[in-house]
Amino acid sequence: MAIDMGFTIWFTGLPCSGKTTLSRRVFEYIKELGLRVELLDGDVIRRHFSQELGFSERERKINIRRIGFVSHLLTRNGIITVVAAIAPYKDVREENRKLIGRYVEVFCNCPLEVAEKRDVKGMYKKARLGEIKNFTGISDPYEPPDNPDILINTHKEDVDESVSKIIEYLKTNRYLS
Ligand code: ADX
Repeated sequence: MAIDMGFTIWFTGLPCSGKTTLSRRVFEYIKELGLRVELLDGDVIRRHFSQELGFSERERKINIRRIGFVSHLLTRNGIITVVAAIAPYKDVREENRKLIGRYVEVFCNCPLEVAEKRDVKGMYKKARLGEIKNFTGISDPYEPPDNPDILINTHKEDVDESVSKIIEYLKTNRYLS
């Protein structure tokens, strides 16, 4: 029997570090268990909920606080909330952790060179050419977590291994049964 309590699992990391891929897989896994789960992806949120926001420090912080607040509302109503958003600033991630309470941070770690090589949407290339300003990792900061609940080295593990590690953590820590 599943434990009927919400929690938020937040995937943070550089663009192309694996957040979207891993969050989708974890979302699908939890959905298959028959639990109520929602996926909040940074790109989707920015299209529907934060359209007016750009990528300055101030705007990113507003965006991440918004996602944190929605996650808090969902979580307290028993819905498992899976978030994939860069969330580059440590202080706002910590604010969200406090607000949400049942919060698991997954750091999708990989060297910038690896993320840049993946360049799924060709944005690193544009950032290098100066066509995109304030691009995380190139011309904008990313503050890595010192103490993530789960560390995934996406350049060293394949997706299945990483997903298993995350699920194992959730079970061991009684987020999932
Ligand atoms: S956050 O910094 O506010 O957490 P978020 O995860 O919502 O970022 O959005 C990141 C997505 O916006 C990226 O996946 C990328 O598609 C797009 N994007 C557009 N401009 C930038 C930029 N300057 N820096 C990072 N991502 C950008």
